[in-house]
Parts: sequence; structure tokens; C-alpha cells
Amino acid sequence: EVPVTTAELRKMKERKEPIVMITAYDYPSAKLADEAGVDMILVGDSLGMVVLGYDSTIPVTMEDMIHHTKAVTRAAKRAFVVADMPFLSYHGSLEESVKNAGRLMQEAQAKAVKIEGGVEIAPVVTKCVQAGIPVVGHIGLTPQSVHQLGGYKVQGRDPETARRLLTEAKALEDAGAFAIVLECVPEEVAGFITENIGIPTIGIGAGVKCDGQVLVFHDVLGYASNLKPKFVKQYAQIGEAITQAVLQYTAEVKERQFPSEQHTFTANEDTIKQLYG
Ligand code: KIV
Ligand code: NA
Repeated sequence: EVPVTTAELRKMKERKEPIVMITAYDYPSAKLADEAGVDMILVGDSLGMVVLGYDSTIPVTMEDMIHHTKAVTRAAKRAFVVADMPFLSYHGSLEESVKNAGRLMQEAQAKAVKIEGGVEIAPVVTKCVQAGIPVVGHIGLTPQSVHQLGGYKVQGRDPETARRLLTEAKALEDAGAFAIVLECVPEEVAGFITENIGIPTIGIGAGVKCDGQVLVFHDVLGYASNLKPKFVKQYAQIGEAITQAVLQYTAEVKERQFPSEQHTFTANEDTIKQLYG
């Protein structure tokens, strides 16, 4: 199968074919997502919450991101894998930022990195792009700044903040980003930004007018994710299936129903005679 490229993603915007992105954090989830035909896989720093059990994305480290991205890129044959740059990994010197971005490509085989922020991170984007590192921007609700934003809430509802988002998006495009995630942005604002920039927008809680959509794997699957914001649609209840299976396994072990004959090895006749007489 032909791997998805940044050029192909841009063509998808031009022909108005929606881009499908989902997060994944390990080999089996990435394999299933890739085989199901998603265009992009995001190794999101949301892994801090959905697979590492932290209560925000802030504790996630470069080492965490590299470890999980390696597992995902081993599985993805077609999907374009983007890895998040974690908290504080792109706020030191430009050299240090590019070095961190480069590690996600060189050590973990990501095809691109995602960076939260707009105008203020444009120099980092430019520097990465100059170094051959494709960059996805991320504006609107940026979870790494949750304590500054005062919670997980919709961004760009009033005229000034909506304008500001367009300015941020344009700055990212000018800096060389090849796509932008819009998180928790009103549909009309996300649609306006989408029409007014040349690179694909990928929405999460940003309405149907974006060039693509992204959701968190565990949210899509109902897989032990306790958050259920308005923008999430659950397509399965995997958590319930897991609970039922583990409950049944537990009961069968307790009752010596498992293992049964079909799951058991038997010794040779003479071995049995030797042992039992
Ligand atoms: O970390 C993540 O999963 C993300 C998406 C929600 C865009 O950044
Ligand atoms: Na993220």
C-alpha cells in the first residue's frame, strides 16, 4: 500500500476529501487503525491521560513520546504518523527544540511533529521545517496551556478571539506548517479559517467544515476513558466488553471451569504411570 504523504494530504484538501486522523499509542491500536484505513495517526500527548493515568498532558516527557511513537511507527504501513512534542520540549532554544523534534523522527520514525501554539511558536516551526521536519500546528484549546486558559473550554467564540485564531493559523502556514489541528473552536470560525488558509485543518470539536477530523482512540472506542466531551462520538463500548470478559475469566478460574480439557496438555502414558503408579 502507498504510504500517505504531506503532498497527498494537501491534495485531499484541494479535492475536498476529508482527512481521517485518530490517535494511537501502541502497536496493536496503531495496527488496527492503519488496517481500517485512517489517513493519519497521531501519537498524542493525550497518552499521558488515556494510557499513563496522569490527569493532564503536562507530565508527559520526550522519553514517553519516543517510547510510544516507536511502537506506533512499527505498525503503521500506510497512515502518516505524527508525534506530539510534549510540554516544554519546544520552549528552550531553537536548537534544543529542533533537536527534540528531530529525535521523534530519527529515533522513533515519526513522519512529522505537532506543536501547540500560534504566532509565538512560528520561529520553532520555521526552524524545524528548514531542518526537514514536517510540522502540524495546533491552536484553539491547547491542553498544555490548560492552566492558563482556565480549563478545557471552547476558544474563539467572540470576534476578537476568532480573529486571533485566524491570525495564528496564517502565522503557522507562513512559518511552513503543513496542517493545523483546531481544537474546540466554533464551526463557523473553523470553517472560515479552513477557507482562508492553503493547508489542511484537522478539527476536534471544531465542526464538519474542517478538512479533516481527529479523535482520541480511547474516546472513539469507549475504552476506559472517563472524559466524554460534547465533541466525542463513541463508536463502540470496548471497555464494557473487556469488563465482561475479565469478569467471566475470573469466575471460571475461581470455579475451576478454566482451564478445561481443550486448553490443557497431557503427558505420555508411561509418564503418568511413573508418577502415579
Ligand atoms: O494529544 C492529542 O490527542 C491531541 C489531539 C486531541 C489533537 O493533541
Ligand atoms: Na496533544
